[in-house]
Amino acid sequence: MGKITIAIDGYSSTGKSTIAKRLASTLNYIYVDTGAMYRAVTFFALQEGIINDRGEVDEATLIDKLSEVHLKFVSNKETGRSDMFLNDENVEKEIRTMQVSGFVSKVAAIKEVREKLVKIQQEMGKDKGIVMDGRDIGTVVFPDAELKLFMTASPETRAARRYKELLEKGEEVTYAEVLKNVEERDRIDSTRTISPLTKAKDAIEFDNSDMGLEEQFERIHDFSQRVIERV
Ligand code: DC
Repeated sequence: MGKITIAIDGYSSTGKSTIAKRLASTLNYIYVDTGAMYRAVTFFALQEGIINDRGEVDEATLIDKLSEVHLKFVSNKETGRSDMFLNDENVEKEIRTMQVSGFVSKVAAIKEVREKLVKIQQEMGKDKGIVMDGRDIGTVVFPDAELKLFMTASPETRAARRYKELLEKGEEVTYAEVLKNVEERDRIDSTRTISPLTKAKDAIEFDNSDMGLEEQFERIHDFSQRVIERV
């Protein structure tokens, strides 16, 4: 039984990372949250003052400074998860704020940013045995992945999930703000020129609006077992 590459793409807050993380841990595979990488570059831009008060990203400066961005995932023994490190600093908490969520789609639309991150992602997956989630994994990063999933759920379902998460983290937001951010990100992510969010032709579409976590996990685990048995 060989190792495979599993690409999980889809809209924001479809529960991709929850499923991907669990699947990776069950299969003893590496898990990579590529959204965290785009978020870390966005946090870097905010720290460096490359995003102005009107929310405009100074693309030329960010591209110039990209060589100063060093990303790595470090496993956290306490949480059992991987934390995102930006230039040797743990930024796991900072990259999940609404402020970062508000700008990340703009940063992720920059060609040079995508080229840099895609290269790192391909390197991480070169030996297979990886579950990677994002927006362009099955289309651009690993077009030859043996298993591709495309997760969807209604914007309201996704906003409700995200709102609950943010409240638990103590962020002061309203459901309306979260729904607006989810819809705005969908729009930017699916209409950008470079690597827009689209379902790969050979991806399995998975709508989980009305599906509990256990059922989702069982079905997706089942898909992966069937593919793994074939390789
Ligand atoms: O999965 P997430 O919500 O944490 O992702 C944050 C943003 O990063 C999302 O709005 C789109 C972008 N992204 C991307 O363009 N390509 C990826 N592979 C992953 C995320």
